Amino acid sequence: MNHSVIDIQGITRTYVNGKLSVPVLHGIDLQVHKGDFVSIMGPSGSGKSTFMNILGCLDRPTTGSYKLNGNEVATLTDDELAYVRNKEIGFVFQSFNLLTKLTALENVALPMIYAGVDKKTRNERAAALLSSVGLGERMDHLPAELSGGQRQRVAIARALANDPAIIMADEPTGNLDSKSTIDVMNIFRSLYDQGRTIILVTHEPEIATYASRNVVLRDGYIVEDKANLNMTPVQEVEHV
Ligand SMILES: Nc1ncnc2c1ncn2[C@@H]1O[C@H](COP(=O)(O)OP(=O)(O)OP(=O)(O)O)[C@@H](O)[C@H]1O
Ligand SMILES: [Mg+2]
Repeated sequence: MNHSVIDIQGITRTYVNGKLSVPVLHGIDLQVHKGDFVSIMGPSGSGKSTFMNILGCLDRPTTGSYKLNGNEVATLTDDELAYVRNKEIGFVFQSFNLLTKLTALENVALPMIYAGVDKKTRNERAAALLSSVGLGERMDHLPAELSGGQRQRVAIARALANDPAIIMADEPTGNLDSKSTIDVMNIFRSLYDQGRTIILVTHEPEIATYASRNVVLRDGYIVEDKANLNMTPVQEVEHV
């Protein structure tokens, strides 16, 4: 069957706090195909994180349909949603979210423990993933012994651990200097070249130029959805 990785029809999200209800998403349609690299931009408060939480199966829509790999996930229980999340989605956060007492290798191997992968396979795969993001020499370092850019590369390797259908990133370069930003965006770009599906939220128009498709949210609606025919290619970075 040839379906979208993501097929969203008319989703809304209203937060209810006691008597107060706050409608945030007002009816969003979005289809994402395998290999799309989608940026989501929009002003503060436009609903980007609310939407990402739903896309990432951390939250459910109030109404509407969300099919992930052809399966309806809008109506799953918390446990079912957690299962789908662990299997289908790799997350990269602005603040890295690495476990401070685990080495780079152990951080990358961790999601594979939850997925029931044996130790030898976990360690081999974690090592290969770290090498692929240029950290082959840093596998035994703790997060505190790594730079911000290196930490984020560990987080990207971790996101790939269970070979997810989609990589989701919420402001992944928000805490990085300009060189590390280019390093990290180069990795997203090479994941795109490998045919990975990527959804990335950003405030920075420059970051959105790396994506193949640019979506803009405003006041809980998608107001723009355009192909980017001029994607930023992999950039050279000089490391001193
Ligand atoms: N738990 C909640 N309860 C009530 N309202 C909420 C809740 N979470 C978010 N909101 C409201 O929903 C709207 C959208 O918030 P959201 O965090 O999705 O915006 P955003 O686009 O990610 O903004 P930013 O760029 O600042 O991160 C805001 O008006 C916010 O106040
Ligand atoms: Mg946000």
